[in-house]
Amino acid sequence: TWTTANIVEQLIEQVRAQVGDGRALCGLSGGVDSAVAAALVQRAIGEKLTCVFVDHGLLREGERGQVENDFVAATGARLVTIDAAATFLGELAGVSDPEAKRKIIGREFIRSFEGAVTEVLGDAASTGATVDFLVQGTLYPDVVESGGGSGTANIKSHHNVGGLPEDLQFTLVEPLRLLFKDEVRAVGRELGLPEEIVGRQPFPGPGLAIRIVGEVTAERLALLRRADAIAREELTIAGLDQQIWQCPVVLLADVRSVGVQGDGRTYGHPIVLRPVSSEDAMTADWSRLPYEVLETISTRITNEVPDVNRVVLDVTSKPPGTIEWE
Ligand code: XMP
Repeated sequence: TWTTANIVEQLIEQVRAQVGDGRALCGLSGGVDSAVAAALVQRAIGEKLTCVFVDHGLLREGERGQVENDFVAATGARLVTIDAAATFLGELAGVSDPEAKRKIIGREFIRSFEGAVTEVLGDAASTGATVDFLVQGTLYPDVVESGGGSGTANIKSHHNVGGLPEDLQFTLVEPLRLLFKDEVRAVGRELGLPEEIVGRQPFPGPGLAIRIVGEVTAERLALLRRADAIAREELTIAGLDQQIWQCPVVLLADVRSVGVQGDGRTYGHPIVLRPVSSEDAMTADWSRLPYEVLETISTRITNEVPDVNRVVLDVTSKPPGTIEWE
């Protein structure tokens, strides 16, 4: 019979057979798939794997710590973190258009990743080693979506590393390519990854930047990061985090409305809650969250997040609305 334990054993054997004595790189996004793929490959080839994490400054509260501390503690993986927040913020300054933001983030992500590759190769240069393999957390639905093609470095969205220098040739290692999300989570648990990583909801690569309607600034990121942390905390307490697909929290940075707090007038920004239920994110329904939970989130956000005086609920399905606002 198939148990998760022997699926894990088999996947580890396959990675060993493919990679042999080669060296591998894996970009960690903070998400479930890349974390599980990396943990599996590290179990298979140990020190021959280097994980790369680009901190673009658009992450949620606690995410960097999860990768740097919890992931590393659970796996013993070798990790290089690239501190790119200042660069990303600088490049995003003055930009409000959603597609322009995404393009900038995609471009900078590739640049940062390239820098990391150079760094890793630099380490290895003394022993004449090269990096031969790139590990990716491709799942079965991704394989199907891209027409079942295999072996090509065609990665969704901004995690595309097709822009790497041409003299760097990678072979892809995709140990999860026959698995579905729930199976990947089971594999992650079997490998000892913490629940905060394994049970995590999807989060877009461009991060909080595409949840700020308007220009991305450090101050706005701080507001949104706090509001998002409150919403996640309350959804977890209510046991709803595993029941919904995800709940983007959006800052309408260019909108203000009049409010009253204490005995004073306020003129602050709205925060949008976008809880959705979905099977695969291709379509989604807005989640009918209990009023008490919505009330707690609203009260806490307006009390605890400076400059936010209103919380609104998005009751649009997909289609016509996409899950993210940008
Ligand atoms: P939309 O907004 O298109 O989102 O309905 C569908 C799902 O994809 C996630 N998403 C992204 N994930 N890079 C990612 O890795 C991206 O650029 C990106 N944009 C959207 C979104 O969170 C939802 O789960």
